[in-house]
Amino acid sequence: MSNTVIKVENLGKQYRLGQVGTGTLSTDINRWWHKVRGKEDPYLQIGESNDRTKMGGSDLVWALKDINFEVKQGEVLGIIGKNGAGKSTLLKILSQVTGPTVGDIKVKGRIASLLEVGTGFHPDLSGRENVFLNGAILGMSKQEIKNKFDEIVAFSGVERYINTPVKRYSSGMYVRLAFAVAAHLEPEILIVDEVLAVGDAEFQKKCLGKMKDVSNQGRTVLFVSHNLQAVSNLCTTGLFLNKGEIDTAGNIEDCIKKYLISSREMNLTTVSLNDRLKRTGGNILFSDIKGIKNGEETWEFNFDEEINISLKASVYIETEGLSLYFALKHPFTGEIISNYKVVLNQQNMVKGESISYALTIPSKTIRPGQYSLYFALGNKDTKVFYDVIDDNVNLPMLSINPISMDVHENAGFISIPFGLTKNA
Ligand SMILES: Nc1ncnc2c1ncn2[C@@H]1O[C@H](COP(=O)(O)OP(=O)(O)OP(=O)(O)O)[C@@H](O)[C@H]1O
Ligand SMILES: [Mg+2]
Repeated sequence: MSNTVIKVENLGKQYRLGQVGTGTLSTDINRWWHKVRGKEDPYLQIGESNDRTKMGGSDLVWALKDINFEVKQGEVLGIIGKNGAGKSTLLKILSQVTGPTVGDIKVKGRIASLLEVGTGFHPDLSGRENVFLNGAILGMSKQEIKNKFDEIVAFSGVERYINTPVKRYSSGMYVRLAFAVAAHLEPEILIVDEVLAVGDAEFQKKCLGKMKDVSNQGRTVLFVSHNLQAVSNLCTTGLFLNKGEIDTAGNIEDCIKKYLISSREMNLTTVSLNDRLKRTGGNILFSDIKGIKNGEETWEFNFDEEINISLKASVYIETEGLSLYFALKHPFTGEIISNYKVVLNQQNMVKGESISYALTIPSKTIRPGQYSLYFALGNKDTKVFYDVIDDNVNLPMLSINPISMDVHENAGFISIPFGLTKNA
């Protein structure tokens, strides 16, 4: 199709693990010998799929295998996957830093890429010299770079160091300048690999804004990140890579969901609370925690829907002044994004009884995304916790689906003013 700017067909990239050297020459000669006779490469068959957690029988692995996809002009493609899934390898091949072992790629348009820290800049040259060098490498004329120079430096925020060799830069300053160059080149395709993680929060926000501008101008963006919130905000389509292969392609939210599900070992909705591993306390225990929508059990809600959570607990010790603590956490960092405490205005909890509550979080109060859950029951005066459930592996995750792109800017993170009602 005419508006396809990247087309990847049956792409594979094989790497040799361990020491490069011993045995390499003989296998290389053997490979070459097969090639000159027009035979199939014998080492392509013994390469194993790339599972970082298992010892392989061979030292050849497929970092990428059977990769097929297309990117249309103006698309913002988010590439996600675990460490070692092949994301950076794919971006390097598309940026032509390295070649594929098999397969074919077609790229239409000028690419600017920001790969790992350390690529593109010469350590002994000053920031200024590197801007010109990089601009030239990326295909800009000297005049073009001159016209953009002030804008690049202003965006990077490293004015003070612009005449200092970049080897004296902090890694954040380095990335600031490198991103500024790549983004201001007016590339037809902008490729950004994770690197933003090095920048501070303010700069990350600025970069995400800039990438959004670039895409609004009809340019194509490929973005690799472990920050799923950023990926879900910025990207329209996604690729979820798993052990070098495409697991899911298409809608970004589907890819994120599949990725999060694959990061867990069990089917969450069927895991009984009693089996959960990371749990402390013991005298008043949660026995059932459910997310509920239209009477059905679910942890998936749309941004414009009210979130209902039903909790049940069994009392093994009589107590009073019980509080319920509830928090939403970042699925990877564990950082608390929002939390709430409710003092249960109830009489003594009587031994042998069970208690149940319903929480309601009003619609449009939680930003779309995926959140780990935290629940605790404790005594507010003695600060004794009877049950704490804080296990982002085995607990279900709350997912809030966006209803349209613009809701992201309007929704808040900070406080959820939800009400507590006692269950009948
Ligand atoms: N030059 C190389 N030589 C050998 N193996 C390599 C090389 N570069 C990458 N690999 C291997 O290829 C696989 C994919 O690596 P890649 O860097 O693409 O992963 P990634 O998805 O970017 O991971 P991360 O999230 O950690 O950045 C890994 O198993 C890695 O060890
Ligand atoms: Mg990588």
